Amino acid sequence: MDSFRIQGGRRLAGRIQIEGSKNATLPLMAAALCTDGEITLRNVPCLSDISNMARLLRALGVQVDGDCGTVKMRVMDHNKVHAHYDIVKTMRASICVLGPLLARRRRAVIAMPGGCAFGSRPIDLHLRGMQALGAKVELSGGDIIVTAPDGLKGTTIFLGGPNGSTVLGTANVMCAAALAKGRTVIECAACEPEVVDLANLLNKMGARIEGAGGPRLVIHGVEQLGSADHTVIPDRIVAGTYAVAAAVTNGDVILEEFPYDGMLAVIDRFNEIGVHCELIEGHDDPMHGVVRITSERLLHPTQITTQPHPGFPTDLQAQFMTLLCFAVGNSIVTEKIYPERFMHVAELARMGAQIHRQGPTCVVTGGTPLRGAPVMASDLRASACLVLAGLAAEGETNVSRIYHLDRGYSRMEEQLNVLGAKIERVREESGSKIAAPAGEAVAVSSDA
Ligand code: EPU
Repeated sequence: MDSFRIQGGRRLAGRIQIEGSKNATLPLMAAALCTDGEITLRNVPCLSDISNMARLLRALGVQVDGDCGTVKMRVMDHNKVHAHYDIVKTMRASICVLGPLLARRRRAVIAMPGGCAFGSRPIDLHLRGMQALGAKVELSGGDIIVTAPDGLKGTTIFLGGPNGSTVLGTANVMCAAALAKGRTVIECAACEPEVVDLANLLNKMGARIEGAGGPRLVIHGVEQLGSADHTVIPDRIVAGTYAVAAAVTNGDVILEEFPYDGMLAVIDRFNEIGVHCELIEGHDDPMHGVVRITSERLLHPTQITTQPHPGFPTDLQAQFMTLLCFAVGNSIVTEKIYPERFMHVAELARMGAQIHRQGPTCVVTGGTPLRGAPVMASDLRASACLVLAGLAAEGETNVSRIYHLDRGYSRMEEQLNVLGAKIERVREESGSKIAAPAGEAVAVSSDA
């Protein structure tokens, strides 16, 4: 398994461009199942999760040309409805084929996603949404079988759960309702920019979805959907991660294609901490801004609580924990989406971080320098947090199991090295270590 060898303490400077959003692309690709027309997606990031989604769609009868950049998809066979466990276990986001399959093929068989590195990830709200639209749900042999032989019928659905809205649940119900008979209202819909991106694609395909970006979606069902050409929005989590990389190295970095408008809660926390995100271009289109990241010499502690969008995203909690290790004083981080998503805490402690966890809350006592150490990544965002810590630490850090990173960041080491970091990808094979080309990944985890 590949690892990163990082020489810490180098100040980052320069300019890079933020890639297309993984979490937007996955449901956008699944939406290709909703039509016989051709779907062209542009700005698709080069990630193992995207290759896995392409593999899943091919198994469901979709011709997929290209794995990243420009990807073209067209349904060739309508008879396949089974998302098998071998793919679902590598990527939880496989669940986003549920709504599109049910809408077009009236039947979906999806392997029940299992546990996850950061706790329980139920799909009850997805299923409740499908049932509200008239589908029948059964569990058999580890598969969820969802059927609607007479088609789906519009209705009013409250889609909130104990932790608020659900992103992929909203995506699934939106796709299914787009082709249902009549009008559907989703109350407590997810407001994430990725949901807006999906609504924009579906509307280009001929759907009639109103209210995307707010908590109440109104969907007027249509008979069929057609072809569309769509450019994926930039990745706000990648943007936030590279902004933290600049901040923890006291750098001066310009990030192009920075989705400023989708990151206001993050920018608010950066401001509190003493990290400046100056929008230097793109004021008229702030989802595609150019931002300069610089920071004050002394960083300030703060409080962070993760919440559904437009609140602070759980997918940046781990990376901000690294940043707060350099803010002198006590910061408080509360995780309200995945209360167990703290696998990075013990690894950061190996580097000298002072973090005390009690339930879903951590107190980070910042200001003590971090020291390089061998650490192990456990999920995608925890891996990113450890790379950031390695960039800022004194000495050498080895982050093992970085296949997690390749699921969500295209060639992260190359991007950071352009900015002056010193990161080497090392392949470990039966005890021997050899330098490896970037991007060779094995996806064996399913946390995203
Ligand atoms: N939830 C339920 N029931 C459901 C679905 C969700 O109770 O049926 C709960 C979850 O347990 C969680 C909350 O609702 O507490 C939100 O989960 P959500 O459904 O929104 O998560 P998701 O759609 O499965 C997406 C991202 C995750 C990101 C979350 C939250 C994709 C492919 N994944 O997952 O991304 O953390 O939204 O923003 O879009 C990542 O990229 O590292 C990643 C994990």
